[in-house]
Amino acid sequence: MELRSLIRLVPDFPKPGILFRDMTPLLQDPTGFRVAIEQLAAGTTGMGSLDYIVGIESRGFILGAALAQHLGLGFVPVRKPGKLPPPVLSQRYSLEYGEDELQLRAHALRPGERVLIVDDLIATGGTAAATAELVAQTGAEVGGFAFLIELAFLPGCKALPAGIPTHVLMVEE
Ligand code: PRP
Ligand code: HPA
Repeated sequence: MELRSLIRLVPDFPKPGILFRDMTPLLQDPTGFRVAIEQLAAGTTGMGSLDYIVGIESRGFILGAALAQHLGLGFVPVRKPGKLPPPVLSQRYSLEYGEDELQLRAHALRPGERVLIVDDLIATGGTAAATAELVAQTGAEVGGFAFLIELAFLPGCKALPAGIPTHVLMVEE
């Protein structure tokens, strides 16, 4: 099954000059969605034992929750600021223009637990790197990263902590 054919390319969204990868046709296709989750799950072999899937708001919730169910793991959301009730841990990170922040429930993870961080797409890598920092704040360990799409013309995977396995289903050159 060619998953790439289920990703819609949308020029000039959300801003002029951006070629947006829209994964909603893939989600809408039951076989495509299932195959994507199976392939993401297959990428976890070799990552060692995992305790939780950490999914990043918002498209990482859709893939991460389905993957967690498939693997028999629990799901932990990392959210944009002000969405999770206190107590929370926060991590700020740089955007092209300005800064943003992500939050994790303070006691969601414990030292020594191992997680897989999941998102739909890695572009600059800032979002996934900030999520890894949040996990590190708890003393838990990032066992791996999984993405549907990597924009390989951006330095995304290079922004991630070294030595952690990263699994990507579609690399966009
Ligand atoms: C997109 C995407 C990733 C992030 C990747 O999310 O889903 O989370 O950007 O970018 P980066 O690698 O440059 O950090 P977005 O901020 O558009 O949020 P959304 O999923 O809520 O639409
Ligand atoms: N699609 C979805 N999210 C994104 C993209 C994209 O092409 N680029 C940066 N975030």
